[in-house]
Amino acid sequence: MEQTFIMIKPDGVQRGLVSPIPRLYTEQPLRACLNLAIGFCSGLLEPSLIIGFVFAISLLQIGDIISRFEKKGYYLKAMKFMNVEKSFAQQHYADLSAQPFFAKLVDYIISGPVVAMVWEGKDVVLTGRRIIGATRPWEAAPGTIRGDHAVEVSRNVIHGSDSVENGKKEIALWFPGGLAEWKSNLHPWIYE
Ligand code: PPS
Repeated sequence: MEQTFIMIKPDGVQRGLVSPIPRLYTEQPLRACLNLAIGFCSGLLEPSLIIGFVFAISLLQIGDIISRFEKKGYYLKAMKFMNVEKSFAQQHYADLSAQPFFAKLVDYIISGPVVAMVWEGKDVVLTGRRIIGATRPWEAAPGTIRGDHAVEVSRNVIHGSDSVENGKKEIALWFPGGLAEWKSNLHPWIYE
């Protein structure tokens, strides 16, 4: 099964920290409690409770992005919430080092935590890019993540591998310890 690397960029994460929270608490109290419980449990595992709490709140927004991939029929193989070092961001975007926007792009990626994920499924690289939408948000079709959530190319919410080969490279870079061994239970009504 094909795999792709998907990263929710700092703007995608931070935007989850503001507007949706009060609405969530009034409209979906059960879900809010669940998120708080996840936050509390993560907090017990992490050195600081705050990290878990922030993670849980962030899930409110990244949940929309995750659910688009899940609804399509893809499997989340790995996910982590992390801060990126400058040198690491430069390595991830090494192919773009000659671009005039390279330094700005690196600063943007290190400006806050990101969510790194590996998704698996049939044609997930190409279809994942379609779910994400065009790089330049003004070219991204409504209904795509960037078409619905972004305005600027320099704040375009999410990254997805552009080829199977680059997907493998990016997964190796972001998950150097490999992926946890678990076999996705391929849904017979999604996969032949
Ligand atoms: S594409 O789709 O890969 O052909 O697009 P490309 O133009 O090569 O863009 C590659 C990544 O560079 C980001 N980008 C920019 N960032 C900041 N400012 C400007 N002007 C800009 N132009 C392109 C773009 O969002 C792509 O990032 P990722 O994370 O790969 O999506």
